[in-house]
Amino acid sequence: MQYNFDEIISRKDNFSAKYDELNLKYGRDDLIPMWIADMDFRTAQPIIDAMKNRLEQGIFGYVSRPDSYFESVCQWYSRKHNWNVESKYMSHSHGVIPGLVMMMNDFTSPGDKIIIQSPVYNEFFEIVQDHGRELVISPLKLTNGRYEMDYEDFEAKVKTGVKMFFLCNPHNPVGRVWTKEELMKIGEICLRHGVQVVSDEIHCELVYGNNKYTPFASISKEFFQNSITCISPSKTFNLAGLQSSIIIFGNEKQKNRYDYLLQINDIKRNNCFSLVATEAAYRYGEEWLNQLLVYLKGNIDFVYNYCKENIPKIKPNIPEATYLIWIDCKDLGMTADQLKNFMTNEAKLGLGLWYGEESKDHVRMNIACPRTIVEQALLRLKAAVDTLQ
Ligand SMILES: Cc1ncc(COP(=O)(O)O)c(C=O)c1O
Repeated sequence: MQYNFDEIISRKDNFSAKYDELNLKYGRDDLIPMWIADMDFRTAQPIIDAMKNRLEQGIFGYVSRPDSYFESVCQWYSRKHNWNVESKYMSHSHGVIPGLVMMMNDFTSPGDKIIIQSPVYNEFFEIVQDHGRELVISPLKLTNGRYEMDYEDFEAKVKTGVKMFFLCNPHNPVGRVWTKEELMKIGEICLRHGVQVVSDEIHCELVYGNNKYTPFASISKEFFQNSITCISPSKTFNLAGLQSSIIIFGNEKQKNRYDYLLQINDIKRNNCFSLVATEAAYRYGEEWLNQLLVYLKGNIDFVYNYCKENIPKIKPNIPEATYLIWIDCKDLGMTADQLKNFMTNEAKLGLGLWYGEESKDHVRMNIACPRTIVEQALLRLKAAVDTLQ
């Protein structure tokens, strides 16, 4: 089936955070929303069909997860990513972040150090600090226009007694797909110093060209046992509103403990729609995904070329993965507050604005929308930048 990603679908009455919370977040609602990471596209037809069938049953009582649910994930991972992980290692969560919070709270103690690599997904900062852990930041290094991990800095910092590492693989917002070699280096450091790796791999299917996603835990038995992997069809298939993700444990004791926490908090079940949607995504969603990736890459190239030709002071980074473009605005010569004000009140764009201290002259643009919307956004941006000259 041919999908039409150019179609503009109104999100009015869609109760969409991206649109309906603009005022709350930016103080105005006349912005083109390109912030929170969801897409303005309809999901794959097999997912919609599966949900429709479920809807037509008309009974929405408590659900029991069939074996085929996690098996669909295992089969996808084995086929797509050459990782033969068994379903017995998998658990459920109402989202990657709720899962991270629960694990951090239970597997570390208040005051323990958690390391992250900035700039990185803003929730990583917030959950660590909100839950009384000490945030340790190892900034990524920019080498010849490409972000890299700083192993020396990372190792020096973990030696101070870090307990847990939130890895973002692939990385939001810089769009890197960490290579196997990079993951091996960082994973070895963690093993050496007893740091547990929690790898957020939510963006792992949104990878372009020859870049190759490597599940951290697939690298070796030692890495598997020292890691917890968080995945979800939510970013890939635009299902974030179904609030369901999968946590893969390499350590049986931790998995049993986590399952016990799900039990005693009474949050062990999926909702009935996430159950069928997830399985349909992993079993029948690939055709849609392949077309989506071509479209997203077209949007990325469009942004890059447009800025190069028309707004040279705005320098988008071409992501290896994700539909989020990390944009260098240094040449505008603004402070973080000025940049925020400029993008919101002059360019009238609702962009991602804060991912750590290292991000103060950058913004993040979500281009998972029809190209005409991306074009409108760039016209707004150019008009605003032109007024500065
Ligand atoms: C790296 C990363 N992790 C987690 C999330 C949120 O996941 P969830 O909605 O499953 O909590 C996002 C959303 O943008 C993300 O980019």
